[in-house]
Amino acid sequence: MSMTNIEVIQNYIRACDDGWLQGWHERNGGNLTYRLTTKEVVQCRPFMNAQAGEWVDIGVKADNLAGEYFLSTGSGKYFRNVILAPQDNICLVEISAQGDAYRIVWGLEKGGRPTSEFPTHFMNHSVRKTATDGAARVIYHAHPANLIALTYVLPLTSRDFSRVLWKSATECPVVFPGGVGVVPWMVPGGSEIALATCELMKEFEAAVWSHHGLFVSGNDFDLTFGLMHTIEKAAQIYVLAMSMGQGIRQTIEDDDLRAIARDFSVTIREEFLD
Ligand code: 13P
Ligand code: ZN
Repeated sequence: MSMTNIEVIQNYIRACDDGWLQGWHERNGGNLTYRLTTKEVVQCRPFMNAQAGEWVDIGVKADNLAGEYFLSTGSGKYFRNVILAPQDNICLVEISAQGDAYRIVWGLEKGGRPTSEFPTHFMNHSVRKTATDGAARVIYHAHPANLIALTYVLPLTSRDFSRVLWKSATECPVVFPGGVGVVPWMVPGGSEIALATCELMKEFEAAVWSHHGLFVSGNDFDLTFGLMHTIEKAAQIYVLAMSMGQGIRQTIEDDDLRAIARDFSVTIREEFLD
């Protein structure tokens, strides 16, 4: 038995590999963090390092994440390599009692630190934990090509993106009835993009990072990965349809979206409908 045999670690590794297989993680692109349950921390504890790493200031503070444990991909590490050598490419970190620092308790055995987007993930975990009464545990950032391509041609508004994506596949309004938020282009890894994403994640489960990628949150790996996958596939369908060169001849109308929401008992963001 080792850390990598534990079910939650296995599920985390599989999520990384599934993302790699989708082509969303060129080089070190993308990052994944997961907030462990108390039971999972107990399962992992026997395999944590005898000597924890140094405390590292996160640069932001979240009272509701004090003492929590997170799995994170390593900064500069490749999703491709996670399944081959998880101990060198991912880590488990403990958050300080003040909710403002982390220390590595397992993983990144050849050195490294959690993703450069850790402050952004951390702040968004805090927001999503509050927004979902503790249910949200996963934050996932990837570089899916079709969605990124749309950020070069669509107006960069949450309304425009939500409408195009909802109308690109019938299941979309059921999977993300709240729509998607859109963050304008910003330098990655900084506090500006962290704050802008947090503002959107108070009301959205997904935020498009213009000319960069997609940032999503969910309760478990299946839901979070599925949200990324559904949004990217909708973007791909729109790109394919537009690529045929005659424009959109017919589509799902706004009242059709309302009908789907009614029959599937979801609340679609009415302000985005005509
Ligand atoms: P990291 O390798 O630090 O996770 O950065 C990758 C990335 O996609 C930044 O947005
Ligand atoms: Zn990125």
